[in-house]
Amino acid sequence: CGIVGYIGTADAKEILLKGLEKLEYRGYDSAGIAVANNEGVHVFKEKGRIAALRDVVDGSTETSTGIGHTRWATHGVPSQQNAHPHQSSAGRFTIVHNGVIENYEQLRRELLPHVSMISETDTEIIVQLVELFAKEGLTTEQAFRKTLSRLEGSYAIALLDNDDKETIYVGKNKSPLLIGLADGVNVVASDAMAMLQVTNEFVEIEDQEVVIVSRDNVQIKKLNGDEVSRDSYIAEIDATDIEKGTYPHYMLKEIDEQPFVIRNIISKYKDENENIKLDEDVRTAVTQADRIYIIAAGTSYHAGLVGKEMIEKIAGIPVETHIASEFLYNMPLLSEKPLFIFISQSGETADLRGVLVNVKKLGHPTLTVTNVPGSTLSREAEYTLHTHAGPEIAVASTKAYTAQMAVFAILAVDAAQKRGVTMEFNPLQELAIVANAMEIFTERKEELEQVARDFLSTTRNCFFIGRALDYHVCQEGALKLKEISYIQAEGFAGGELKHGTIALIEDGTPVIGLATQPAVNLNIRGNMKEVVARGANPCMISMEGCEDEGDTLVIPRVHEYLTPLVSVLPMQLISYYAALHRDCDVDKPRNLAKSVTVE
Ligand code: G6P
Repeated sequence: CGIVGYIGTADAKEILLKGLEKLEYRGYDSAGIAVANNEGVHVFKEKGRIAALRDVVDGSTETSTGIGHTRWATHGVPSQQNAHPHQSSAGRFTIVHNGVIENYEQLRRELLPHVSMISETDTEIIVQLVELFAKEGLTTEQAFRKTLSRLEGSYAIALLDNDDKETIYVGKNKSPLLIGLADGVNVVASDAMAMLQVTNEFVEIEDQEVVIVSRDNVQIKKLNGDEVSRDSYIAEIDATDIEKGTYPHYMLKEIDEQPFVIRNIISKYKDENENIKLDEDVRTAVTQADRIYIIAAGTSYHAGLVGKEMIEKIAGIPVETHIASEFLYNMPLLSEKPLFIFISQSGETADLRGVLVNVKKLGHPTLTVTNVPGSTLSREAEYTLHTHAGPEIAVASTKAYTAQMAVFAILAVDAAQKRGVTMEFNPLQELAIVANAMEIFTERKEELEQVARDFLSTTRNCFFIGRALDYHVCQEGALKLKEISYIQAEGFAGGELKHGTIALIEDGTPVIGLATQPAVNLNIRGNMKEVVARGANPCMISMEGCEDEGDTLVIPRVHEYLTPLVSVLPMQLISYYAALHRDCDVDKPRNLAKSVTVE
């Protein structure tokens, strides 16, 4: 979910709606705004996209204060009733909330047994509690602080008080939140992007803090009321980077940007002598570790699987890659000197943050590899490596994935050099070859559109098979396809398919095979024959050097450690066209959110 708030002199409605449009990547099940004027607080909310909300907002309501929310449902179905903002029973307080209140049932039973709740959300308990404590005689600020000190879980909250329309009360724990500053105007946002339209000067809020925001003042306090002072910073995001220009979809734009992203990474990680440029502290942290634990989710997890192979093979340091949500509550035995690397496009994923907090308590070094410096994971880890991919807006991740793997290749070689391992592999030169190979490929879109038509236009399911590094790319290819086209897709290790899943192969089932690894080329081709013998419709994607007659697509040759950066491109494009032909919403697939800030 995402939240925004505005208190200033301009029309709050339009600024809130524009802000929510920029936050739609965080969820788009329902959306709402509450705006305050002399007559009171007016709530507009609707199921579906911000566009649907726009249709119900009454343009004639004059106002210069308000809060807004775009939702990714956790408690309660997506509906108008469950959409935020929520109001207290007597209507005095109005709230928007991002996060999950874990003890809401318990609080409801204990403190509000006689209040009947209007929605099915965990959020409503917060606003009802503020009203309860205010009725007991506390000021709004005191009631708000008292409420927050009773909550367990995650929250970024903005609250309006009908009796004081000149203040927005804000609270944060675990969920991201920033306050933006301008002249006679202050704003609230889950992400700076939402409020770049007003300002680029922001103040970070830490966990268990409240902020009292008025037109001319921003006061930060601890939950016990102690004041906190903190400097602001300038967000270095170019607002034009987040426009899609002439592209029909952000996803296609972002696929096409990959060669530029790789060249950008080369230039950022190269010193004047053409050697790898890396912060000495990061270098030391990596080489001093006796084992590296990569923690990630979704596409970033798939990049982590490739990252593991790179670091182990190139630098000789043992690596384990873990799904963040699993690691969080089921930590394996750790080595003596572990280093934790968090891979996250957004730098905000709640499951990763949970692990980060835990391992920091244990005193272990932490490094975040992210596309958003200044994000929560970047701020809270000891070290950060930036993936320099530029803002990624489409929910399905493309350029962030290839950028993450490029940074891992550089990190792996740097660690190897520091450990005195001699090698031929120069990642900066080899990545330049990758960028060229990607470029050739993004020009072959018609061919890929045809592949999508031939193999995927009517199918219900699809399998991706590969071995070694190709297996991990197949996992990512399958994820891409299911995310945006809703075709059931799975990525398998070529040799494993016959131990069960081959039972699903029927006449015409598409199987996409990947063959870029010389050492297992014959094996994967054998696996492909096994599925063809059972009626599968085979689509073989190979790399020059591994190609064979009859392959559907042959991709330009790159260094064998870097093949995933190129072989994923056809998979991204095939998924894109499959989704397009099925009339799916490519950039905003159903049920998903780009940044998942709840556990
Ligand atoms: C969500 C997105 C995925 C993404 C994952 C991890 O599920 O829909 O595309 O890979 O989160 O996000 P992160 O920002 O941590 O890389």
